[in-house]
Amino acid sequence: MRRKMVVGNWKMNGSIKQNEILLQGLIAGLRDLHDADFVVCTPYPYIGQAQAMLQGSNIAWGAQNLCSAKDGALTGAVAPSMLVDYGCTHVIIGHSERRALFNETDDTAAARFNAALEVGLIPIFCMGESREERDSDWTDYIVGRQLDSIIRRFGPEVLKNAVLAYEPLWAVGADEPATPEQAQEVHDFIRKRVARCDTGIAANVRILYGGSVRPHNAASLFGMPDVDGGLVGRASLVAEKFVPICEVANG
Ligand code: PGA
Repeated sequence: MRRKMVVGNWKMNGSIKQNEILLQGLIAGLRDLHDADFVVCTPYPYIGQAQAMLQGSNIAWGAQNLCSAKDGALTGAVAPSMLVDYGCTHVIIGHSERRALFNETDDTAAARFNAALEVGLIPIFCMGESREERDSDWTDYIVGRQLDSIIRRFGPEVLKNAVLAYEPLWAVGADEPATPEQAQEVHDFIRKRVARCDTGIAANVRILYGGSVRPHNAASLFGMPDVDGGLVGRASLVAEKFVPICEVANG
């Protein structure tokens, strides 16, 4: 039985003051929920604040990216070990905004994925197709290629310590979530593709859905057999929205 998980992706939002209010709301709101896992992925400068406030709570914290190199002359980059220093347990890898706006490719995402694993961070690996790709019936091809970029390089075993996320680009930052059936169809495709390599790993790997998850649609999405929770953007910025989504995941 896979334990459900909800990850908040704050993207480039927040301030010390706003974060304080949000994290206080999450600590209070999630305190009694013990049947699912909760994570917030903050902008780099606020990871220390998340650590200070969330230590001892049932909420983990992480980052939204990392550099695949260990250290060196890489101005502006953040090494995996630095995230570990600040108590991060998770890191988002290959988000569609990184792919579209920051030239992330299958190769660079795979390198970051591996760098995360090497320091013991759990990568949350994002995959998803654009509207045009879906309309052209390319969803399986795109998502399959992205998934294979990890499995081909590192083998299916790495998925024992990773989380997958299906995030259709047309649903991210939009007002149009995938229907539960659309999400289920792709999650099922992903799980079956992992199962071709290893059925045990496929049965256990968590596949989150992301893209316009809200309190009112979380139950129908998370109720699908292969949807193991959510990767939540906008609704993770307000405790009054994030907490109810986590309550759904908690069951
Ligand atoms: P959204 O973003 O919930 O604001 O659609 C999801 C994501 O990008 O992870």
